[in-house]
Parts: sequence; C-alpha cells; structure tokens
Amino acid sequence: MTSSPLVVVVGNPKAASRTRTAGEAAAARIAALTGLDAEGTAVIELADLGPQLFDWSSAAVRAATETLAGATVAVIATPVYKATYTGLLKAFLDWFGQTGLDGVAAVPLMVGAAANHALAVETHLRPLLVEIGATVPTRGLYLLESELDALDEPLDRWATHAGPYLRRAVGGGSGS
Ligand SMILES: Cc1cc2nc3c(=O)[nH]c(=O)nc-3n(C[C@H](O)[C@H](O)[C@H](O)COP(=O)(O)O)c2cc1C
Repeated sequence: MTSSPLVVVVGNPKAASRTRTAGEAAAARIAALTGLDAEGTAVIELADLGPQLFDWSSAAVRAATETLAGATVAVIATPVYKATYTGLLKAFLDWFGQTGLDGVAAVPLMVGAAANHALAVETHLRPLLVEIGATVPTRGLYLLESELDALDEPLDRWATHAGPYLRRAVGGGSGS
C-alpha cells in the first residue's frame, strides 16, 4: 500500500460494510475541508487482514501500519460492538507503540444502532488513539445506523465544528 496523506481504517469484521462507506464519506468531507487529496485516500480494510493481525511477522499488516503512521489525517471507523470499538480494530492498533501515531491527526468514527452509546467515541475510541500517539483535534463522529442513508446532514453538523481544527492540523491555519 502506497503512502497517502488521508487514510481510512475500517474495523468491521465484515468487509465492504456501511461503516466503510461512512468512513470514506467522512474522508471525502475532510478532504473538502482541508484541501487534502480525496482521490489518493488509502483504505485499510481490516477484515481483509483477519488472522494475520495476530502474526507479528505479517508483512501485510506491517505495510498497513506504515500506511496509517504516514497519514496526515486518519479516519478510524468502527461499528459499536458491546458499547465500544470492535476487537478487530483493537487487534490492529495493538501493533502500535506509544509514539506509533505521532504526527497523525485522527478522527474517531463510530457507527451504532443506539443513541445512548454515542459517547463511546469519546470515552473509548479517543483514549485508545491518544495512547498510541495520535492527536485527536476534533469531536468524534458518532453516526446512527438510521442516519447512514443520508450522511450529508450529520457530516455537516460535525464539520461545522471540526473544520477549523482540521485545517489547523494539516497546517492551513484556522481557514475561517
Ligand atoms: C456483536 C454486535 C454487537 C453490537 N453492539 C452494539 C452496541 O453495544 N451498541 C450499539 O449501538 N450497536 C451495537 N451493535 C450494532 C452495530 O453497531 C451496528 O449494526 C453497526 O454499526 C452497523 O454498521 P455496519 O452496517 O457497518 O455493520 C452491535 C452489533 C453487533 C453485530
């Protein structure tokens, strides 16, 4: 996988999920907000790596970690399972040490069925990303399943607040 300033990690055990679609839509919005190249977005579909995530010698997983570590902005997208991120996502992020994502601005994104799990994106996913060195400059993005057919509205809401922070993170000042 080649290096890309914009990376999406998809933590759904099922490939080609709605979580992936939401992650890619968020990346497109981030590209529009920051001027990063949307065409060059790299998607790391963790379902494709499967058992290799537990093989520390896996070249494919190593390449995926390098792709993520080289990102300027990374969307870390996962469905909510048991009020938190998936085990699949955790297995991938376990590959990173405490400085592994230094210099990466991460956007935590969760897709869930229930509104009462919305804070999981802040209380569970954000600390995990911070623990491995990422900067998390915006609020997390929590999307309900019921919103997935019309992503523009929740992305608009989120982007209103997130835009200036993302522009600053990519070195473009406040942009406002
Ligand atoms: C094992 C499992 C556990 C789940 N736990 C939760 C949960 O605790 N809270 C919640 O809001 N949704 C929960 N869900 C619903 C999923 O988050 C939701 O169906 C998923 O985000 C939809 O995204 P997808 O279409 O990409 O799979 C769970 C789903 C599964 C399969």
